[in-house]
Amino acid sequence: KMDAFISNLMGKMTLDEKIGQLNLPSIGFDITGPILSEGVEEKIQQGMVGGVFNTYTPTAVRKLQQYAVNKTRLKIPLLFGYDVIHGHKTIFPIPLGLSSSWDMPLIEQTARTAAEEATADGLNWVFSPMVDIARDPRWGRVSEGSGEDTWLGSQIARAMVKGYQGNDLAAKNTVLACVKHFALYGAVEAGRDYNVVDMSERKMFEYYLPPYKAAIDAGAATVMSSFNEINGVPAAANQWLLTDLLRKQWGFDGMVATDYTAIMELMNHGVGNEEEVAKLALVAGNDMDMVSEIFLKRLKQLVNEKKLNVSYVDLACRRVLEAKYKLGLFTDPYRYVSESRAKKEIMNAAKLQLAKEAAEKSMVLLKNENDVLPLKADASIAFVGPLVKDQRDLIGNWSGAGDWKKAASFWDAIQAQYLNNKFVYAKGCNITDDQKIINKLNPHDAQIVLDNKTPQQLIDEAVAAAKNANVVVAFLGEPFGMSGEAASRSDISLPENQQALLKALKATGKPVVLVLMNGRPLTLQWENNNLNAILETWFAGTKAGEAITDVLFGKYNPSGKLSMTFPRSVGQIPIYYNAKSTGRPIDEQQKYTSKYLDIPNTPLYPFGYGLSYTTFNYSAIQLDKTTINGANDKLTASITITNTGNVAGQETAQLYIRDMVGSVTRPLKELKGFQKVTLKPGESKTVSFTISPADLMFYDINMKYTYEPGAFKVFIGGNSQEVKEADFKVE
Ligand code: IFM
Repeated sequence: KMDAFISNLMGKMTLDEKIGQLNLPSIGFDITGPILSEGVEEKIQQGMVGGVFNTYTPTAVRKLQQYAVNKTRLKIPLLFGYDVIHGHKTIFPIPLGLSSSWDMPLIEQTARTAAEEATADGLNWVFSPMVDIARDPRWGRVSEGSGEDTWLGSQIARAMVKGYQGNDLAAKNTVLACVKHFALYGAVEAGRDYNVVDMSERKMFEYYLPPYKAAIDAGAATVMSSFNEINGVPAAANQWLLTDLLRKQWGFDGMVATDYTAIMELMNHGVGNEEEVAKLALVAGNDMDMVSEIFLKRLKQLVNEKKLNVSYVDLACRRVLEAKYKLGLFTDPYRYVSESRAKKEIMNAAKLQLAKEAAEKSMVLLKNENDVLPLKADASIAFVGPLVKDQRDLIGNWSGAGDWKKAASFWDAIQAQYLNNKFVYAKGCNITDDQKIINKLNPHDAQIVLDNKTPQQLIDEAVAAAKNANVVVAFLGEPFGMSGEAASRSDISLPENQQALLKALKATGKPVVLVLMNGRPLTLQWENNNLNAILETWFAGTKAGEAITDVLFGKYNPSGKLSMTFPRSVGQIPIYYNAKSTGRPIDEQQKYTSKYLDIPNTPLYPFGYGLSYTTFNYSAIQLDKTTINGANDKLTASITITNTGNVAGQETAQLYIRDMVGSVTRPLKELKGFQKVTLKPGESKTVSFTISPADLMFYDINMKYTYEPGAFKVFIGGNSQEVKEADFKVE
């Protein structure tokens, strides 16, 4: 039915009208790239636009849709895309934070909720999930992804696509998902955004490509090609990537859009002039040209001069029309435009409750010496730092249509619960005093305005407040614009002025708790060695203030586990848990082994790490048998976890496997599963994992995806470093 409808429609279309469908300009409320689209309203009316992004709200969407439907010859409706990255109006934790929940139903529900709000606001396409595996925290965009692990990242990719798209794209509350950035964007050299990527085929297939594939297997309707090059060919011009791999090998039959001005940027990459890059990008497999308008300018002439076969234009146009058809836009172009739905569904109580739950579950307790946390509500507490009363940063970067004014600051949230308590506040420092950074962030992101008081005055006030308190809680981190797109850093420690404040607080001799808000792993050696407790809250979204309050005062016992390694020093980067052995594994006593002179090889906080207000004991691993006999056999590994502390808590038990000998070298450990258990004090539960040959597959010496018989180790534990182990064999 769809094919016949589209063939019939395309039979009526001129070449210009077909090329118009491939044009994706930005218009509306946000600026998400280096140049602005011009004359978009006129172009829509002239049939020169297939979809737009950065416009939402029923009124704004209806206006543009009316241009397309009432003013163009064939009345083809527009797509409305937007960067709904971690919620639309109800904002959830940044994706790196959300991934620390290791909670797939929750993550799926946040995407579902975002889709409900986005569609109620006129949108039908979200530029999410971002599934780029990232092992380099200097890259600011680690905040938008799910961390370093292929297996966890693939689970999350699947959950998000399901959440956004549901079972029926034509339903009023589902959107097209767009898996991005295809591909390997998370591996930009030196962590510098938009930089070159170069990696072996094995690394690509084994570690970086699976999450994209998982999203596509889950039915992702669209893909965004990435900015970086792969093996010398920019993704936006990469036929191997966008056609051979994506479509022929993986069977993707949806639509591909470029990233912002990526076709134009092919000229900077040095692969052709404007005419050449237009052809390269289309033939490679892109269907929509985001903002460049190079398809609009060049394709007709290329076809007329017989330099480009018109079948490429037809194919791309068909894919765009198919996306519209799947959404039901040809039946009702205003399907996603409803003021009454917007009023009823956006930021309703259930959505806000989910935002609070997601915020709580994403927080990771990094240190808690002598149970300084949870705080006692009747203690004298000095809350110090520029983020105590902050609202803007709470919802983080790329928070879409989210309104930060709807997020209660931590200070307001504690006042609401603990009005007459002995709490004092001092700002302590600016979020940063580094003028270079401030200049680069302003005016693109919220203005960083320096306090009228000098840095020393601010510190003195904080020290005075600390001296009168039983405990000091410092709210520090990155301003939200210091992570995200175009926000790479070479130094990922806390800004210098914040470190000075912490040192002054430490000198008071009072216990100091550090509450962090930031969009990437930071280097926190001094903080870890000198402070009493550290809570990582990321940018936790609309309900961050309330969630931090409940975590700090013990109403919610933290349960998050890191999805990305925290290095001791930038010099260790890239550092990730699923590393390989070398021929000379580290031995501190031996000179000629793989190590640093100045620091250990180990990270500060490993992948999978996160504490609780209680403690958990893991028994030895029990295997029901020690040999897997052939492809259809399996074994069960069980472990008993006991809550050895005084409060109830939730633990995420993680399963890792090591293949001891392979036709190619294998990582020291790979995540293959996890299970959550909630335990009362003193309670024990046994969790069991099934291991079958399917869990042991990898790309062998011939790049065949298979498993190899031999010896294996299974590890189970509360993080990737502290594990119990057992041996098994595969015949
Ligand atoms: O979706 C984004 C992408 O992640 C980065 N460049 C701009 C796009 C559209 O806003």
